[in-house]
Amino acid sequence: MVEPLSKVHIAVFVSGGGSNLQALIDASKSGLLKGEVVLVISNMRKAYGLVRAEKEGIDSFVFKIKKYDTPEKANDDLLAKLKKYDIEYIATAGYLKLLPLNVVKTYKDKIVNIHPALLPKYGGKGMYGHHVHEAVINSGDEESGITIHLVDEIYDHGNILHQVKVPVKKDDTPDTLAARVLKQEHLWYARILDKLIKGEYRK
Ligand code: GRF
Repeated sequence: MVEPLSKVHIAVFVSGGGSNLQALIDASKSGLLKGEVVLVISNMRKAYGLVRAEKEGIDSFVFKIKKYDTPEKANDDLLAKLKKYDIEYIATAGYLKLLPLNVVKTYKDKIVNIHPALLPKYGGKGMYGHHVHEAVINSGDEESGITIHLVDEIYDHGNILHQVKVPVKKDDTPDTLAARVLKQEHLWYARILDKLIKGEYRK
């Protein structure tokens, strides 16, 4: 069988630990994900996701709008970087900023995000990490879950591609619930990105 010359290039945006980034890298290596993470971008210089990238030999880039004269210059530079690496798909994985509009427009229907709850509940600005799990527990909901969705200009808003429910247990703390949810994130993110790349969500 003739193998294609190169895999689809993926950029992953992170702000923190990057365990979902790692899951994507691992899935790419095992062949579960028909694409390769070739660039990792973080707004946080100390994000452990950047260390993961380095360990894997993947190029990375710290993107801080304040380093530029104007936001426009920053956003142009970011897009130029994505082009330079021939990026075709973007996955945000614990990235705490909105992607700039020029990127969202250029990569329409080719950007995915993962959220640790069942959107549209518990989404939006400020709803990240333990804030999400605390809100779920305080609400008394009996189930939470994961949502993988396309990215548009609004936080946690684009078309939902996949959701998986996760039970909330009576004695859950934000940490125990987060751990149960994260397991599902690692299981599903690469699978759904793979389906997107293969065109399975095209209308
Ligand atoms: C995950 O729970 C993800 O759903 C959310 O932020 C967390 C990131 O975790 N957007 P990690 O950095 O991938 O470990």
